[in-house]
Amino acid sequence: MNDSTVYLNGEWLPLSEARISVLDRGFIFGDGVYEVIPVYRVSDPALNVWRPFRIEQHLARLVRSLAKVRITDPFNEAGWCTLIEKAVTLHVSSHANDTSCLIYIQVTRGIAARAQVFPAHSTPTVLMMANSFTPPSALTREQGVVAVTAPDARWLHCDIKSTSLLGNVLMAQYAAEHNAVETVQLRNGELTEGSSSNIWVVKAGRLFAPPSNHLILEGIRYRLLEELAAEAGITFEARIITEAELRAADEIMMSSASREILPITRLDDCPVGNGRPGPVFAALYAGYQRMKERPLSADEGIKIDAKRLAAQ
Ligand code: PDD
Repeated sequence: MNDSTVYLNGEWLPLSEARISVLDRGFIFGDGVYEVIPVYRVSDPALNVWRPFRIEQHLARLVRSLAKVRITDPFNEAGWCTLIEKAVTLHVSSHANDTSCLIYIQVTRGIAARAQVFPAHSTPTVLMMANSFTPPSALTREQGVVAVTAPDARWLHCDIKSTSLLGNVLMAQYAAEHNAVETVQLRNGELTEGSSSNIWVVKAGRLFAPPSNHLILEGIRYRLLEELAAEAGITFEARIITEAELRAADEIMMSSASREILPITRLDDCPVGNGRPGPVFAALYAGYQRMKERPLSADEGIKIDAKRLAAQ
């Protein structure tokens, strides 16, 4: 494992030296929330400027997740941005060839004697790390990926980006054991989401997604794809999608921070539509890439300063 520098409770230290107590409620109960934020280098490498993609929306979701589980937000927006900037700067300094990375943030309720009820006093544990990531290759996008379906056996607060991910973990493993990249979950015969992605269905040129409620995590790409569909003149509707509608779809797509948008071209060993990525995928994917490349506003990018790097 690459011994990158991570942030833990006020310190920057090598991953191999980062330690938490076994009494941390994140470890004991999965009592915490997290975020995953993609960061892209803007295309002119000479600039060495990096864009935390949709940072405002990611931080807003972190604030919402913390509020829903009643963990005090340890930072304000500026505080989070300062940490992210440093994490990206450190990552870039040791991964000169990367053009994208993922920022992982985890906040738990902290350390306390083991009792399920909230402790009277505890300090949230904060972890931040940057990891290399490469968006899906052109070949993967041209071929599309395989998914399988399974019943959604998770709890009823899937809108919280909670670190209690056992249900998701089992679904990700189920996909892996069926040579698939994702498990598409169904609750009472209705589409919910993937193990770590939102799922989209196209029928007769129209785009559909399950409503954003307690049964799914509202991905940062959920609202983005809604915007991109509007821009491309594609009608979007958030509504219940039955298993029969899923199986009769012309196109199925998944979206997430690391997968961006990917076409699912086989579902449970049947081709989706004609078995090839469709025109709605192509339009949304192109829009997504345009968003990544659009000019940065004055305060948006992270400029990697060679002098500051040398001093670190
Ligand atoms: N997962 N639904 C679930 C259950 C997810 O875990 C994710 C993302 C999404 C898509 O959200 P977004 O567009 O904000 O990435 C939907 C992240 C990437 C993860 O757990 O690694």
